[in-house]
Amino acid sequence: TTVEWEAQSYDMGGHDTYMHKEISEQPDAVDRVLRGRIDDRFATVRLDGLNLDAREARGVRRVKILGCGSAYHAGLIGAQLIEELARVPADAEPASEFRYRNPVVDPDTLYIAVSQSGETYDTLAAVQELRRKGARVLGVVNVVGSAIARETDGGVYVHAGPEVCVVSTKCFTNTAVAFALLALHLGRIRDLSVADGRRIIAGLRRLPGQIAEILEREEEIAKLAAEYADARSMMFVGRVRGYPVAREASLKLKEVSYIHAEAYPASELKHGPLALIEPAVPTVAVLPEDELLEKNRATLEEVRARGGRILAVAHSEQEKADRTIVVPRNEVELDPILMGVPLQLLAYRTALALGRDIDKPRNLAKSVTVE
Ligand code: AGP
Repeated sequence: TTVEWEAQSYDMGGHDTYMHKEISEQPDAVDRVLRGRIDDRFATVRLDGLNLDAREARGVRRVKILGCGSAYHAGLIGAQLIEELARVPADAEPASEFRYRNPVVDPDTLYIAVSQSGETYDTLAAVQELRRKGARVLGVVNVVGSAIARETDGGVYVHAGPEVCVVSTKCFTNTAVAFALLALHLGRIRDLSVADGRRIIAGLRRLPGQIAEILEREEEIAKLAAEYADARSMMFVGRVRGYPVAREASLKLKEVSYIHAEAYPASELKHGPLALIEPAVPTVAVLPEDELLEKNRATLEEVRARGGRILAVAHSEQEKADRTIVVPRNEVELDPILMGVPLQLLAYRTALALGRDIDKPRNLAKSVTVE
């Protein structure tokens, strides 16, 4: 069975679709996940329900994040944030894969289950298996009191508010922000400096306004969507910080527009997928302005040389791309969170241009509560 779609019970607030409403709500949603949690005095955050004291936090040797679909992709961003800010080895894995492979459960690993609904069966089953083996499992969950929230030892609520559209948008963004909070918290207990803590806090505070700025560019993004809506397939690429954004953007586009899309680390293109590049297969490149920007520009060159069209998401116009969506700069660690937003709009406007059933794409349910 699947959880019934509850669209009728929530007000559309003047939007034509829940997807559009939920994309538009992101400045407020992000504001909510931050509210009451920032501790300026110690340049950290307070996460009340975490249930992990400082001594325990220092004892964590590894972090393993588990979720499905967009929750898993938010977990990929989370793993990078935890590695960068807390310097703890961290990775994310689809919860379903994890639970089917008789995983080695290590007492020094902190497990984190990620879920919007808190009811996804694969993620819940992974939590139950981990608890059975004595692991400590935290939740990064949106729905308060859901099964995963109840069955974890503690965690961080995402506070995105109800998400009705099958295609996750605001919850993805808020989950990534919740991970930034967790990473900052762990980092400040370990080796992250006060100065870096302050820098990240200032960046977090800028996010709602910067998301609002991106949302103002919707008409411009609509034109790009119309331009690319004839694509046979789309390739999404990014390197390190850009890669999870590419993964999520590719999922968004295929879910809602039914255009086939693939996501690859930019460096993997030359190991095979370049064979697909041609004018009917445009590439969306996620290019945060970090130490890898030059390498990323070289990727654009490779795509161009094969006759591929390129849409870049970057902080300034990219001359090697055909089109650029310019996104405001934040801190390098937080830029991926912002870069996902215009690509949600791109997926939405592409689906609109193609006349798709945006809030309820074919074959999908909001929450998959079966195996
Ligand atoms: C996202 O757009 C999806 N429809 C889907 O991948 C979703 O993220 C996944 O099923 C996990 O759901 P959950 O967050 O409720 O666990």
